[in-house]
Amino acid sequence: MKRQVRRRRTVGYRLFTLLAIVVVAVLALSACDESKPLSTVDPVTSNGRDIQSLYKLVFWMALVVFIGVQFGIVYAALKYRYRGERTRPRQIHGNQRLEILWTIIPAIVLLVIFIPSVTTLYKFEDSAKTGDYTIEVYGKQWYWEVHYTKPNTVAGVVTANEIHVPAGAKIQFKLLSNNVIHSFWVPRMTGKTDVIPGHENELGFTAPKTPGVFQGECAEFCGTNHAWMRFRIIVDTPEQFNNWIAAYKAGPTQAGAQALGLVDSKAMPPEFALCLGCHRINGMETAPGTPVPDQVTGIKSPETNGPNLTLLGCRETLAAGQLENTPENLTKWLEDPGAVKPGNFMSTQIHKGTLKPDQISALVKYLEAQKIPGCK
Ligand code: CUA
Repeated sequence: MKRQVRRRRTVGYRLFTLLAIVVVAVLALSACDESKPLSTVDPVTSNGRDIQSLYKLVFWMALVVFIGVQFGIVYAALKYRYRGERTRPRQIHGNQRLEILWTIIPAIVLLVIFIPSVTTLYKFEDSAKTGDYTIEVYGKQWYWEVHYTKPNTVAGVVTANEIHVPAGAKIQFKLLSNNVIHSFWVPRMTGKTDVIPGHENELGFTAPKTPGVFQGECAEFCGTNHAWMRFRIIVDTPEQFNNWIAAYKAGPTQAGAQALGLVDSKAMPPEFALCLGCHRINGMETAPGTPVPDQVTGIKSPETNGPNLTLLGCRETLAAGQLENTPENLTKWLEDPGAVKPGNFMSTQIHKGTLKPDQISALVKYLEAQKIPGCK
């Protein structure tokens, strides 16, 4: 008897300890990141707020049901516990009033959830139909290729991972893939939308009126580096946005070239010829008078296409959010991309030793100088 009590207490202590560890871990993790860039409970668009209202509705209803059920269980367990009775309690199987009641109540609960859910779904569909700007986003393994297609003022701009949009504008995204399924998700702006090979999905929202940077990520397992397929939506003032588009179209500037010690703004180090197999920098010429062809567009492009590197010096991160964009990290990347991001296509072409240290430093200097004043 004594031993049994002790064992029960041990189990109790263990459960308590486990619970305490879980509570502490959850508290510690939630305190880790003050800014919470991937939080879904702090929306900045009307789409995000619609999702939030649905979430709150379901949460509070579920809470009421949860408390009711738990209360019922505890009440029944205590009130009707075995007290040495010899006879069975009254059986209520087939009680019509109860049967009707517990059919109607859940039906009402489901209806209360169903109506706003469907309304929100249609609203989302409508918001994806048109936009002041249309941006095609191609899920690649593992980064995002971004093509601005409408209006004409932005058409033809191709970038990667960092998507600039003007504040207050209505944006329509067309999501495409020519490899596996990805999922485009900006938690503070909108719900997840799958990016499916051979099928175009659309998504739309109105950018917030206040400039800011919003984190996005791939939300569908798509291979080894699924976790490093991040992106950012950068909401600029209309003026900043127009400057960015103009600078992006123009490519390297004379001022940038002078900072590099180059006379010709379109000149590039000879090492960059290797990169041109997959990458592009807008406005750059391989030889005088020979413009580099435009990036082959999206879905028709072979897997070998790499991210467009125009204004790379302005980007916050490298390798789809994996490394902070610094000369040291770019060096690390060029030395051995496979060590940083195993399985990425560039690592099949460049291994440790492919590029000599002086070639790497020439490339780093060239690439980090691809910027416009005040962009980062
Ligand atoms: Cu792309 Cu996960």
